[in-house]
Amino acid sequence: MTRTLIEPFKIKTVEPLHFTTKAERTSHLDAAFLNPFLLRSEHVLIDLLTDSGTTAMSSKQWGVIMDADEAYAGSKSFFRFENQVRLLTGFTHIIPTHQGRAAEKILFSLVGGEGKIVPNNTHFDTTRANVEYSGAKAVDLLYDESKRTDHSAPFKGNLNVEALEELIKTEGVAAIPIVMITVTNNSGGGQPVSMANIKAVREICTKYGIPLFIDACRFAENSMFIKMREQGYENRTVLSIAQEMFLLADGCTMSAKKDGMVNTGGFIAMNNSDLAERARTILIVTEGFPTYGGLARRDLEAIAVGLEEVVNEDYLKYRLRTVEYFGEQLRTFGVPFIEPPGGHAIYLDAKKFATHIPPEQFPGQSIACAIYIEGGVRSVEIGSLMFGKSDEHGRHVAPEHELVRLAIPRRVYTQSHIDYCIEVIADVYEKRSQLQGMKLTYQAPYLRHFTAKLEYLS
Ligand code: F0G
Repeated sequence: MTRTLIEPFKIKTVEPLHFTTKAERTSHLDAAFLNPFLLRSEHVLIDLLTDSGTTAMSSKQWGVIMDADEAYAGSKSFFRFENQVRLLTGFTHIIPTHQGRAAEKILFSLVGGEGKIVPNNTHFDTTRANVEYSGAKAVDLLYDESKRTDHSAPFKGNLNVEALEELIKTEGVAAIPIVMITVTNNSGGGQPVSMANIKAVREICTKYGIPLFIDACRFAENSMFIKMREQGYENRTVLSIAQEMFLLADGCTMSAKKDGMVNTGGFIAMNNSDLAERARTILIVTEGFPTYGGLARRDLEAIAVGLEEVVNEDYLKYRLRTVEYFGEQLRTFGVPFIEPPGGHAIYLDAKKFATHIPPEQFPGQSIACAIYIEGGVRSVEIGSLMFGKSDEHGRHVAPEHELVRLAIPRRVYTQSHIDYCIEVIADVYEKRSQLQGMKLTYQAPYLRHFTAKLEYLS
């Protein structure tokens, strides 16, 4: 019996990697103000900044791109896209957008606003930003044990249903326009949400008459976790699990740049016709006509095929195994990360990795910089730089966790690339006492991590 789970594809087109020396990387990172977002990608060897829009498309996707109908209105490519999204989600109204945050912007312009509160297991940064930009408050509701990075459980993305009901009772139904569940929970470690949990949230939503929306970016990875980990789902197809999940919701936002297996695109979908009508009105003003929503029609074709390919179980087995293998190997070096490994990424626990750097000195950013210098691997801080705030006295208010995310693009890297990343991280971990704290020299008012500039303290 063979034991190696191989990449379930062969390679037809290749793109060369760019090798650099440590001295070159040090100067590139200085020029980028110690912010990997500001690096040129040609100076990056293995890019684990994000799994978003970095997918390698299949030959079938490139094929349908040529076949696309670029009509402004009523394009046949739109109807192919709509059919595929409807098959998957069952929602009545399907509205394309140029990416996930455009769907979020439309949704929260409609349901958000001053005095409103939006609960979610954990808002992703753009989701939180769109909720807050509308004037509403974003509340994250996870179970306490899920917040512990060393606690291993099958469904650490579950929304805390008791806390949700408590919030509805104390704030009142009128204050809560929708409840959201993010699958998988990206900011919480790429951890899945169980079907039982989605059902429990649905019950509360039905009881109080509040619509439930799914942030569906990684619905296929979440569905595969359900198949592998939740009793009663082991013999179900991933597609039918995903369909069951969407059936429990009233709508969803989707960044197709993840489990849509494309380089750009997204959608918002829902059953409520009145809400959809208002969403289309905003869409026309900000994104485009409802049969393209800011995308080329060829993008819609690629999404339609991507949504078909992503529920392939050989692919999903390899996908989840890659991240699990990454984690297993890091564990042997004692590197601390969120357990268990998530669906799309490994999240290093920077508080345990760099115990000598306090949150206000951005330990995660310091680790991300060291990983780049060591081996040209780009990662992203998810901690005080991304989510930290200042209180009224200008004191730093740290988020719960200081993390460094290493996100794996879909179908892009092979096992030897992952082995290389493991060596780089293990080397940085061995030299962790040399990591230095940092301070900000520039920050923007929203989503500051994208453009922040930093320098070392000493
Ligand atoms: N929701 C979640 C859970 C996400 O992970 C993202 C994007 C979005 C919404 C927004 O989608 O980028 O298409 O506008 N996450 C990327 C990441 C950026 O790196 O995790 P978008």
